[in-house]
Amino acid sequence: MNDKPVLLFDSGIGGLTVLREARVLMPERRFIYVADDAAFPYGDWEEEALRSRIVGLFGDLLAEHDPALCMIPCNTASTLVLGDLRATFPHMQFVGTVPAIKPAAERTQSGLVSVLATPGTVKRQYTRDLITQWATKCQVNLVGSVRLAALAETYMRHGFVEEEAVAAEIAPCFVERDGRRTDIVVLACTHYPFLANRMRKTAPWPVDWLDPAEAIARRALSLLPARSGDIPTGPDRAIFTRGEPDAATRSLIRGFGLAA
Ligand code: DGL
Repeated sequence: MNDKPVLLFDSGIGGLTVLREARVLMPERRFIYVADDAAFPYGDWEEEALRSRIVGLFGDLLAEHDPALCMIPCNTASTLVLGDLRATFPHMQFVGTVPAIKPAAERTQSGLVSVLATPGTVKRQYTRDLITQWATKCQVNLVGSVRLAALAETYMRHGFVEEEAVAAEIAPCFVERDGRRTDIVVLACTHYPFLANRMRKTAPWPVDWLDPAEAIARRALSLLPARSGDIPTGPDRAIFTRGEPDAATRSLIRGFGLAA
């Protein structure tokens, strides 16, 4: 029996795409959602500074919330600090989120795969190693988007996104070579699934948009000990490192059933 909460950590609201799936698979669990919005976007951070920031934050979060398990639904953080978190907090289980390059390489018909991510994730050694390990038989095009995570944040809070801006950010994902075309785009930032409909609409041709949220939730479920269903859980909570969230953010997280 383990009735402790599951803690999810992202730079902003992107990890809510994973919370959505986690709740479907673990309806009896209590979740604490942490957004490091004081440091958003992670995509632009210098690696050493971001690493020590996140490890420092986890020292406090683990002491305060004593979670059963931590999920890091953030590619930009996971590809950088997963190893450091596991080494620093060896008694805690961390489920990371890394670009879904292996499943994309297994599924592609054309052999042309694009990975859409933040500039941080694109330049990580971790990401390059995934390609060398799993995708040597196909051509992987890494696309670092400077604007998409922020566009997704605005869209979720205010319900508006410029379609031309989305189209411009995803355009480099679409490659034609020797009569073949990109057929899979890996969504390697948890913010992007919120814009998936706009991406589909503005894409120059149809592709599979690979969103690993459900796989991450399944992995977390497989590692968690069973909890007894009869002990009532408290409400799910959201914590913002910047402090009290603004009205639009409060209304967004209420819509996700989270108390600020
Ligand atoms: N949601 C994050 C990711 O999965 C990062 C967005 C950002 O802070 O730049 O990579």
